[in-house]
Amino acid sequence: MKKAVVAGAGGFIGHHLARYLKTKGYWVRGVDIKEPEFEKTSCDEFLLFDLRYWENCLQVTKEVDEVYQLAADMGGIGYISGNHAEIAKNNILINTHMLEASYKNGVKRYFYSSSACIYPAYRQQSADVLPLKEEDAIPAEPEEGYGWEKLFTEKLCQYYQEEKRVETRVARFHNVYGPLGTYEGGREKAPAAICRKVALAQENSEIEVWGDGKQTRSFLYIDDCVEGIYLITQSNYDKPLNLGSEELVTIDQLVEMVAKVAGKTVRIKHDLSKPQGVRGRNSDNSKLYQIIGWKPKYTLMEGLQRTYPWIATRLSQRT
Ligand code: NAD
Ligand code: GDD
Repeated sequence: MKKAVVAGAGGFIGHHLARYLKTKGYWVRGVDIKEPEFEKTSCDEFLLFDLRYWENCLQVTKEVDEVYQLAADMGGIGYISGNHAEIAKNNILINTHMLEASYKNGVKRYFYSSSACIYPAYRQQSADVLPLKEEDAIPAEPEEGYGWEKLFTEKLCQYYQEEKRVETRVARFHNVYGPLGTYEGGREKAPAAICRKVALAQENSEIEVWGDGKQTRSFLYIDDCVEGIYLITQSNYDKPLNLGSEELVTIDQLVEMVAKVAGKTVRIKHDLSKPQGVRGRNSDNSKLYQIIGWKPKYTLMEGLQRTYPWIATRLSQRT
């Protein structure tokens, strides 16, 4: 039986990934500073450890075959654009210690969760954006704080790979959403935030949408994300790969889709004073398909049909 560590198993993607690895027959050790918020963990062992500290990283990576490193101080654009120092400091400590500890403990394979935030701002200035290819990352102009840290940790993985310390695999996630993801509190990303706003809105009332609504994104459903992580980790390809959807929508279109799923009419009030991030961002999955012969399966509509009811139900149970 293969043994894996999922770091960040108390969070959204880590929790889903741990469950997926159990279906593949793994023994799983989950690690996080908090337990999963919405559902009991499927991990065989769950350790409440702060992974910014070297001794903790050394302890949690003992006697396992694979490490999936998803622990991070992270959130949507509102959170990451307002906390550069804290995010960069926390994540560089977690990532540097986890990679070195995995090397010291002879881990066979190390997965690192990077982000579309490593791509340069100068390639994302138009809503009608060209999908981002892996080689577009350099010359660099990533998102301040969070994006620079992700880009440097990608390089660290490359160096450990090249110097035969650990076999590393890297995926660049493009805005992942789904049930059991954060939907309030300040760290939520657009799909969950819009689901919450629509769920709480009265019929025909206004909801606040950040920006002018014409900015574009693609959104990856969580089940596609965890399957992609697994396939990338098992593959022989040791350079970063996009893991995203290629279905580009404007944020206003996202709102319309959520409203349709909810069966509600809402009016949009744009707020230009709120954080907006890049103007347009889409994933080019050509290399992903070429390497692992796999494409994400869920359309945005199908993903929202699974996500909205979960958020709406949680909100209705509270009131
Ligand atoms: P999340 O916030 O739900 O999960 C991250 C987990 O890391 C949290 O449970 C948090 O408690 C934990 N953590 C934070 N600091 C820690 C510490 N010091 N020690 C131990 N655990 C700590 O976020 P997520 O959406 O599940 O993201 C998982 C990974 O994927 C992160 O590396 C994130 O940067 C990356 N990513 C996510 C997205 C996305 O759209 N969700 C996009 C790009 C990249
Ligand atoms: N969060 C949020 N909340 N965003 C909103 C809202 C709202 O209520 N209304 C509109 N938006 C707009 C934002 O202004 C932004 O233009 C767009 O929706 C997407 O916002 P987010 O989902 O918060 O973030 P992002 O796509 O800019 O970046 C996210 O994805 C990256 C990977 O693709 C972040 O989560 C990053 O941390 C992540 O790495």
